[in-house]
Amino acid sequence: MRNIIAIYPGSFDPVTNGHLDLITRGARIFDRLVVAVLQNLDKAPLFSAQERTEMLRQVTQEWSNVEVDLFDGLLVDYVRRRNAQVILRGIRAISDYEYELQMALMNRRLEPAVETVFMMPAERYTYVSSRLVREVAQLGGPIEGLVPALVVDKLRSKVH
Ligand code: PNS
Repeated sequence: MRNIIAIYPGSFDPVTNGHLDLITRGARIFDRLVVAVLQNLDKAPLFSAQERTEMLRQVTQEWSNVEVDLFDGLLVDYVRRRNAQVILRGIRAISDYEYELQMALMNRRLEPAVETVFMMPAERYTYVSSRLVREVAQLGGPIEGLVPALVVDKLRSKVH
């Protein structure tokens, strides 16, 4: 019996409905899905690593095969530590592809045994990104339907 563990890495600042859609799809395909939150981002995040992780834990609690964890350093080192075989990434549009291809090939060079698998979120989330959601929230626009309800509240209290 194969037990395929996939790592879904990202900044998740904050988790969006697009991320959740991908988690839903990933949890159906893989035996175990670890949502891995990058702890130290290049730019100062809006939410701390603990806040990003906690929101993800709350919105993924319905899946028994989904786990949320923090990581730092090289992603492939973390993937090896977790004995995972797959890195899961979402591609929304062609514009995502170039960067994702670079990362996938670099990760393959660093660890040839790990496979990057791309999945497409539902079309209705094609334009949704954490960066745009943060911007709309910070400028007082409506963000309902773009992020889970719990995140709407957290964003509102963060920016007001
Ligand atoms: O949500 P993001 O910001 O698009 O996720 C990017 C992430 C976390 C997947 C990427 O920055 C990453 O893997 N960082 C860890 C450092 C690393 O391994 N860099 C080399 C990757 S080619």
